[in-house]
Amino acid sequence: MTGVICGTGACVPDRILDNNEIAEFVDTSDQWIQERTGVIRRRIAVKETTSSMAAEAGRQAIEEAGIKPEEIDMILAATATPDHIFPCAACEIQEKLGAVNAVCFDLNAACSGFLFAYQTAQAYIVSGMYRTILVVGSECLSRIVNWEDRGTCILFGDGSGAAVLRAAEGRNWVSAAHSDGKGGPALLCQGPNAEESGKTGNLPGQAQPEGDGGKRPGISMDGKAVFQFAVRKVPEVVREVLDANGLTAEDIDWFILHQANKRIVESVAKRLKTDISKFPMNLQEYGNTSSASIPILLNEMNRRGMLKKGQKLMMAGFGAGLSWGAAVLEWGI
Ligand code: COA
Repeated sequence: MTGVICGTGACVPDRILDNNEIAEFVDTSDQWIQERTGVIRRRIAVKETTSSMAAEAGRQAIEEAGIKPEEIDMILAATATPDHIFPCAACEIQEKLGAVNAVCFDLNAACSGFLFAYQTAQAYIVSGMYRTILVVGSECLSRIVNWEDRGTCILFGDGSGAAVLRAAEGRNWVSAAHSDGKGGPALLCQGPNAEESGKTGNLPGQAQPEGDGGKRPGISMDGKAVFQFAVRKVPEVVREVLDANGLTAEDIDWFILHQANKRIVESVAKRLKTDISKFPMNLQEYGNTSSASIPILLNEMNRRGMLKKGQKLMMAGFGAGLSWGAAVLEWGI
């Protein structure tokens, strides 16, 4: 028993923010951003939210799967930017889709989120606990980006992607995932309870520090450290998954990597001694959409007819945590 993807969907905000527009408020240029990252433009949520985009992506995936929302046993939303701390995004998506029989929860593994959620969904299906699972990656990163930091604000975008997994007879591929909490400071976004927020508590009458209580919120990153981590760990985990399944890189038709940076994808391809044409990219259009990037790309390839039944896909995610992982699947649509 395994989970087979039988429908995909994606939704991105209408508002396009290109590099030239960013260069109007931070000291950067279209040329610098394109050369260092490959990003040309990204989408920014204005009226859209994490759950509204996720529901639209989910609706498309359900439609393609040819099922009713009531048939979904579980909604798993990978997000680091839910609309609310609670209820979770997955419950909000459930309500919007009318998936009344689904159990719903969120999973935060930053840019590895979709990959980890896919593995979690597979584990539920393989155990026999659930048969039909909607996995969504959805982010409004523009809400947590520090728009004064040119080192990070150029990288990220908003969007959502989804896939429906259904239990079917088939090979249960081995996947892999890893975390390294020691690397946490390399890519960090402080939350309301973070030590560095300077807050001392919330009891009535308790004194709070002056001003904003500490560091400006938003994503902070050691770009070089994250780059080094990605180009070392992604090929490593891809090889781990290939070996565990008795496959070689030649057996894989498409490598669907988290869309963080063109130079990272190119470097991974080189280290795996595999032609770059097997590494599709759309980061030039959307930037880094974190947990949404893999399912947005998967949906784009699916809708363009690039994926053929029986082809082998290798998905690989990496990001804050630090965290990274890979999973191989056979395309079933
Ligand atoms: N525009 C122009 N100059 C910029 C800039 C920008 N947007 N951002 C940084 N710079 C400057 C720096 O200030 C530095 O100037 P200095 O030499 O005068 O100090 C110079 O460019 C080089 O900066 P550096 O940080 O060393 O650049 P880099 O080659 O490492 O590229 C990243 C920066 C962020 C593009 C790169 O490190 C990267 O892609 N890292 C991975 C990030 C990532 O993918 N994160 C998410 C993973 S899920």
